[in-house]
Amino acid sequence: MTTSTAAGAAGGEGAEPIVPSFSWQIGGVRLRVSVLDDGLVHVERAAWGGVGPGASPATLGAGEVARPARVERASEPSADVVTTGLLRIEVCRETGRLIFRDGRGRVLLEEDRERPPTAAPVLRFQADPGEQFYGLGQKVRGPNDTSLRWNGRVREFGPYGNVREKTCPGVSGQGNGNTTIPFVVSTGGYGVFFDNHYRHTWSFVEPGRWWVESAGGAHSYYFVYGPGMREVLERYTRLTGRPALPPRWALGLLQSKFGYRDWGEVLATAERLRAEGIPADALVLDLYWFGGVPHFGGANRMGSLAWDERNFPDAATHIARLREMGFRVVLIEEPYVDEATANFEEGREGGFFALRDGRPALVETWFGRCALVDFTNPAARAWWWEKHRPLVEDGVAGWWVDLGEPQAYDEQATYHGGRSHADVHNLLNLEWVRALAEGYARDRPDRRLFLLSRSGYAGIQRYGAALWSNDVLADFAWLAPQVSTGLNMGLSGVPFWGTDVGGFIGPVASDELYTRWFQFGAFTPLFRPHGQDRPTAAFEFSPRTAAICREVARLRYRLLPYVYTHFFEAFRTGTPLMRPLVMEWPDDPAVHDLGSEYLFGPWLLVAPVLGPGDARDVYLPAGRWYDFWTHEVYVGGHTIRAFPAPLERIPLFVREGAILPLGPEVSHTEERPLDEITYRIYPGPEPSRYELYEDDGESLAYQRGEYALTTVEASPDARGLRISVGGVRGSHARLPAKRRTHFEVVLPHPPVAVEARGISPETEWDGERKLLVIRCPELPVSTPIELWIQMADG
Ligand code: NOJ
Repeated sequence: MTTSTAAGAAGGEGAEPIVPSFSWQIGGVRLRVSVLDDGLVHVERAAWGGVGPGASPATLGAGEVARPARVERASEPSADVVTTGLLRIEVCRETGRLIFRDGRGRVLLEEDRERPPTAAPVLRFQADPGEQFYGLGQKVRGPNDTSLRWNGRVREFGPYGNVREKTCPGVSGQGNGNTTIPFVVSTGGYGVFFDNHYRHTWSFVEPGRWWVESAGGAHSYYFVYGPGMREVLERYTRLTGRPALPPRWALGLLQSKFGYRDWGEVLATAERLRAEGIPADALVLDLYWFGGVPHFGGANRMGSLAWDERNFPDAATHIARLREMGFRVVLIEEPYVDEATANFEEGREGGFFALRDGRPALVETWFGRCALVDFTNPAARAWWWEKHRPLVEDGVAGWWVDLGEPQAYDEQATYHGGRSHADVHNLLNLEWVRALAEGYARDRPDRRLFLLSRSGYAGIQRYGAALWSNDVLADFAWLAPQVSTGLNMGLSGVPFWGTDVGGFIGPVASDELYTRWFQFGAFTPLFRPHGQDRPTAAFEFSPRTAAICREVARLRYRLLPYVYTHFFEAFRTGTPLMRPLVMEWPDDPAVHDLGSEYLFGPWLLVAPVLGPGDARDVYLPAGRWYDFWTHEVYVGGHTIRAFPAPLERIPLFVREGAILPLGPEVSHTEERPLDEITYRIYPGPEPSRYELYEDDGESLAYQRGEYALTTVEASPDARGLRISVGGVRGSHARLPAKRRTHFEVVLPHPPVAVEARGISPETEWDGERKLLVIRCPELPVSTPIELWIQMADG
């Protein structure tokens, strides 16, 4: 029997939008299709009389997600049809099978023809022979594996969430980088978010089909229309939350180590970084700050959330001193509380821990006998945040939440309120980050918090958290798969991502490995050297290594106006800073599985060296590309074999037409306001445009529209190139009144003349670099600049 009903289900109270929703009863299954916007459709199935999925921890409320849609429902001979402004969704009346088509009738996604859907948490779809699959959270592939797509593979969220797997023989090195984000993006014009946080297996192995099976939870998924990957990400991050902007300093170099053992070591590192001229913005303190754990020669103080007064006395004074030098302090914490701490008693009495047989469930691991904070409990979240208040008062600027998989548990015997650990395992880290983000927001309502998280779940990006690829073995073989890990994280809605620069464990990196890793790190959104019991700072390596790393770190800092602009782009649209080439060239088969290079923002193509030696193959997609270092031009569409990459240089290409904003050289992000900027222009045959974003770097005012935009245009004409910089639009608390603007224009030969409206800039031809340098006088930021560069033969 088939029955169907349509309802305008209000998403919640008050002014919530009406979400058109249609239901069918087919066989024993209740099917509901809800249209959140013309391209975002929620599909739910439950057993007749059974319960639906309930509130999702991953998604935002309908009030934030839904947009008005043009929705109609019609009946055709064998199917009911729901049309939206962009889609035609056919519902087979006999089986309840769905087919999603675009406006022209082309099939985008079709539920399995042979095995009709049931209410079980299993999704099965037909796959187009040419379609490519990406995303699915964080998973470091095998050694030397630089593949990118999921085609032909099985993706396990497990064996269970992010538990440490031994994938690296003899070393438990790279197994713990497995983060559950059940969202896949296809080149077929759509994405699917399986709103289910249990253990999953995703398979893309069977020809013509793909499927996902879950060990529990509901049959609830979102069809996310594109047609391009950017549009898919725009809708997905509207559904699960846009990546919040981190504080601007967090985009600098964050110097980390497991671990600095006292303030002396921390201060010495800070001083040495400054003395060596290596820019940096933070020092990240591992578990010695609270006294460590017995396994590493410390005490049973896990979860005390209080300074080890012996080695880290007078925290406020030391943090203030570091702050004067331009460094913030970030502290690690774990979700565990040792039996021996006062917080254990408090947490036990308050009922803030996961329980086993009515008592705090104790896990015994390398860090002691500990209870696990139950972050699914709102009271536990509030309690945990309270413990942070004194540390915020001391000046701590961010938290590093570690081991949040969580690492040890008993999934059946452990309880969180009325739910078994199996029901919440993958949510704990998300709820933990939420505890900190919401607690901080209550205490400092207009400030951004830096959060570094080892684990997570869909939606973690809305808290602005950075994720990293966990404990990587210091070896080229394990550096290689990092690139595609980050790219798939960007396609999973998490743009703020990085790796332990230099590698975390195993033999200490050679100078060559450290240099290559550092160069890659400078072109990842999160730039953090880190490792266990080893040198991690560039100055701890050879003088040549330190010198090369200094230069690349300086370049990262000069690029911060660009990096920051594209963090804002991620906030606005979900498009990550680190982008796979397939996002831009989906029809080029050469890039479908290319996980060893990427775009860094719209203009830069980064091809990090991922093995020993001083050359690598580089694929350049269609178009013309400038070598960033030499300004030589390459025509794309093929692979350049053995492209020279002397140790000093990471292969870096600039897309023709690029307008790159470069800030002044600084030793940290707050050294000076952006009172000087250089636009490096790589002219192409078409006009190009760039919009620079700036804000105060630390408040939430950007979410209220308090920011400044500057439009720069470069337009070729018959006789040369016209460049214009519009006056700044908008404002923010740190906008300087005046600014010096310079231009560096890459040209084949010197110009005949440079004209400027109303000003007399200095010009200089740098023949070696084929660069025309134009220096304008200091001007109010509201004053537009117009230049005309005349070339000899047009
Ligand atoms: C595991 C983390 O992955 C690592 O980065 C950290 O240094 C250690 N825990 C010690 O806290």
